[in-house]
Amino acid sequence: MLALADRMHQLGTETAFEVLARAKALEAQGRSIINLGIGQPDFQTPGHIVAAAQKALADGHHGYTPANGILPLREAVAADLHRRLGVDVDPGTVLIVPGGKVTMFFAIMMFGQKGTEILYPNPGFPIYESVIKHSGATPVPIALKEANGFSFDADEVLAKITPATRLIIVNSPANPTGGVVPRAQFDKLVAGLRKHPHVAIMSDEIYGQMTYDGREHVSLLTYPELRDRLILLDGWSKTYAMTGWRLGYSVWPKAIFPFAERLAINCHSCVNAAAQFAGIAALNGPQDDVKRMVAAFAERRRVIVAELNSIPGFRCVEPGGAFYAFPNVTGTGLQSRALEAKLLNEAGVAILSGTSFGAHGEGYLRFSYANSVENIREAMRRIRACLGEVKAPARSTA
Ligand SMILES: Cc1ncc(COP(=O)(O)O)c(C=O)c1O
Repeated sequence: MLALADRMHQLGTETAFEVLARAKALEAQGRSIINLGIGQPDFQTPGHIVAAAQKALADGHHGYTPANGILPLREAVAADLHRRLGVDVDPGTVLIVPGGKVTMFFAIMMFGQKGTEILYPNPGFPIYESVIKHSGATPVPIALKEANGFSFDADEVLAKITPATRLIIVNSPANPTGGVVPRAQFDKLVAGLRKHPHVAIMSDEIYGQMTYDGREHVSLLTYPELRDRLILLDGWSKTYAMTGWRLGYSVWPKAIFPFAERLAINCHSCVNAAAQFAGIAALNGPQDDVKRMVAAFAERRRVIVAELNSIPGFRCVEPGGAFYAFPNVTGTGLQSRALEAKLLNEAGVAILSGTSFGAHGEGYLRFSYANSVENIREAMRRIRACLGEVKAPARSTA
């Protein structure tokens, strides 16, 4: 019997991939499945970005690049952050990584060890909790509540800080809830953190360009007093429909950047060279495709929220960003995981149980609306028909 390190048994997973596999297996049996489970844009990467990667390959960019990424890409990231957020970022603190996930892995491994605590959103992206446990640190959930539009409450976050706290993870706009944290909460959090100079923050802003109805995305990068302890996680996956390219970036405090770079050297050496050239084209090129995709998501969001609220036993708050809706389904009388299985097996609709995103996700389902309006409407018709067979108890007020 091979003897794995203890920490291997602490590693969790992302059940989205398991549901996707079950959905594919059902499709292989000839079943019609509508997939509202997967968290990736259903658009193709814009053509000029693909062309830039093809050109890079044709031009012979086949070798290693510097571990932190090619300079024109790091400069393009800094220019993009200046354009969008009005902040000055030194390209020397930008690390190009293979996808957003890598930044969270590096940040958590950098701060997490036995005896330390890391605060993270729950329900939240499942990899936060998984890697925190893997690092040996204690995961301390920040409960995100429907009543707050799934924003955190800054006072509650600050109250959880102890001398053992090393890192706070925040994510706005959020997966799985679509919640957007209002500026007032960020202001309060940042002010309160003055008393806790030993605590670092990782801000996952991968959905930062996807907000709706004029909702404001507040970047923690815009708070100068945080710059010496802020790790910004962002990337191309969602904004430019590039999930399969594996391209992301992080901005690090100058003092710890060398450690992040060293992790990259130990882990992956550098990111695929052609993908980095594609990244430059994405940031420096026209942004019309981004606007087009966000406008399509806005329309789908309008449709799905109205549809979800018309299903007996469901209640859905307006998600302010990302491309997820997170309805409360306690009114069906079914547990989230049971409902996930029922809707996949009986209705042919793949969605995710809220508990895939942590214990505080019980009573909710995550719907990704990265699918066509027709498919969304058909999925809702199927769910309504399927749940018509469940006797719905009186609407919950929870
Ligand atoms: C909140 C959040 N952060 C990070 C990621 C990871 O992005 P990437 O595919 O670039 O690794 C995801 C992907 O679903 C996400 O939802």
